Amino acid sequence: MEKTESQKDVLPTSEVFHPGIGSYQQVYRESVENRDDFWSKQAGILDWHKRWDKILDDSNPPFYRWFVNGKLNASYNAVDRHVLHGKRNKAAYIWIAENGDEKIVTYDGLYRRVNNFARALLDLGVKKGDKIIIYLPMILEAPVAMLAAARIGAVFSFVFAGFGAGALADRINDSKAKMIITADGAFRGGKIVELKKIVDEAVEMTSSISTIVVVKRTGIDIQMDEERDVWWHDVTKDSSVYIEPEWMDSNDPLYILYTSGTTGKPKGAVHGNGGYSVWVASTLRWAFDPKEDDRWWCAADIGWVTGHSYIVFAPLFLGLTSIMFEGAITYPAPDRMWEIIERYRVNLLYTSPTAIRTLMRFGEKYPAMHDLSSLRVLGTVGEPINPAAWKWYYEHIGHSNSPIIDTYWQTETGGFMIAPPLGLGLPPLKPGSGTFPMPGVEPVILDEKGHELPEEQKGYIAYKKPWPGMFLTLNNDPERYKKVYFEKYPGLYFCGDYAIKDKDGYYWLLGRSDEVLNVSGHRLGTIEVEDALISSKEVAESAVFGKPDSVKGEVIVAFVVLKEQYQDDGEIVQKLRKRIREDLGPIYVPEEIHIVKTLPKTRSGKIMRRVVKAVALNQLPGDISTLENSASVDEIKEAIQVFSTETGNP
Ligand code: WTA
Repeated sequence: MEKTESQKDVLPTSEVFHPGIGSYQQVYRESVENRDDFWSKQAGILDWHKRWDKILDDSNPPFYRWFVNGKLNASYNAVDRHVLHGKRNKAAYIWIAENGDEKIVTYDGLYRRVNNFARALLDLGVKKGDKIIIYLPMILEAPVAMLAAARIGAVFSFVFAGFGAGALADRINDSKAKMIITADGAFRGGKIVELKKIVDEAVEMTSSISTIVVVKRTGIDIQMDEERDVWWHDVTKDSSVYIEPEWMDSNDPLYILYTSGTTGKPKGAVHGNGGYSVWVASTLRWAFDPKEDDRWWCAADIGWVTGHSYIVFAPLFLGLTSIMFEGAITYPAPDRMWEIIERYRVNLLYTSPTAIRTLMRFGEKYPAMHDLSSLRVLGTVGEPINPAAWKWYYEHIGHSNSPIIDTYWQTETGGFMIAPPLGLGLPPLKPGSGTFPMPGVEPVILDEKGHELPEEQKGYIAYKKPWPGMFLTLNNDPERYKKVYFEKYPGLYFCGDYAIKDKDGYYWLLGRSDEVLNVSGHRLGTIEVEDALISSKEVAESAVFGKPDSVKGEVIVAFVVLKEQYQDDGEIVQKLRKRIREDLGPIYVPEEIHIVKTLPKTRSGKIMRRVVKAVALNQLPGDISTLENSASVDEIKEAIQVFSTETGNP
């Protein structure tokens, strides 16, 4: 079978782009050989209320604690210190609405909004340590709510506003949040998504929420519960308040962000105040080398970790000016991104390989319509970037003089782990490689048993040492934290990705080694889709997997067995799609749903997802000696064949 663009070529090559220079090696060496001195200096990137007693407490692995007994506040570092030190009138955000409206908020403006909303939170009974959910689209109230929570020491959990009611309810239940901050609706691709309605549905499935704060964004009609719901504009009327920041312990939680795994419900990764903040600010500087007068555009959604770390915390800690964009990059036309770059003279652009591949499809004429000469650095995140997309980005967007910073990291790692270190002296770039580890990061490539593999051999990437940005634990589940990440290779952090280190020491990230999906750079669990399918009354069994896709990296494919009393009446697939959309959100809706009579199983009754996937993708299914019902394999082949003929989709 033909390999797709995204699959084909992320493999070591010796092709080198962009000339290199290098003091990186020296800084890196210092970070691993002289850890405490290194981090002691580096932590000065923030203002501390009280200095730490110890850089790292590793006495209770794998619960590593950084900057022990240090005290600081993230909102103070994001706004107060800039207001106090000469950046009062500098733009923190240039916010661009989907319809093109713009709002510029200065550091002083952000500071006032944050104080104001912090006061509202206190008035509404939120205290230090309380959990609150933020379910907002890309509007300025999102960073304001995050920073206001951080200011008073409340722990926020941001839920991506593209998630459905079931996904939101799971996060409310796990975090036991007492408040949700949301909007009446969100503009998306020219349509309105009724967020408050989704929140109302989700809250029905939970018991901890006592207050819902609603931002009026779209003006659509919504239900307000008099006892429970308040408008953002009503609770923020008094705009001249100062709320003393809560001086948080370095290892107090800052936020919880749920992320997909291979089993069970999404896991709540808990990030702390000190280590995380030092890490995101440092990594942004090392990888992208932003300058005082730059305009930085991280085009992710705030609801994912990329937005948390690199739209909100890191750029604000560094006092940068960020573009924040509410809309979709292809709406109303495929040159939306290029138009924004030209209009706002963006200097640093950070987006996903899927975005590049999507825009690449429309051709060079769209970027060519715009003056992109302000761009100096280009970045990518979320999935491997295939060399064809890398080169297109380099040549047509960066005009062959802007380095591509391919950043590899995860929700759990807090910030970049492997990325070209522009700020420390850039090595020559190889299209598709994230190059080298950030200072303090010590990767190894291992085989199944934990033996270190030689160069050029594919294995599992793991990390030998803790780094300041690593998550503290999983919410409510420290045992799962140990089991998922630290059991496969005792003493090492295991992250679930494949990688190769080439003969020049460059790292090549090759995607997930487990059943986690990566759709358009979004991390989704097959298990979540299977659970949603099985919880539909018609479905008895399901097997879900990712199929390589030339634009999105992967798309979701589901095979479903119906319960005896149900027939494939021609409508069932649509019903299942609708249910997944409402429950989990549109990004979870499978591209293909096939109804079959049986699924391949082992003698003990376990569904062999590996076999389903291999047969469906026309690959060798591997060892099928334990397969109980070989007829199922023919049925899968047939379903795929019928699908290909009907859709013309090979
Ligand atoms: C994948 C997103 C290759 C990887 C920041 C990882 C990447 C998962 C890259 C984490 C990259 C992220 N090259 N693969 N540059 N960046 N990944 O938690 O499989 O949403 O484990 O964090 O995305 O996804 P998450």
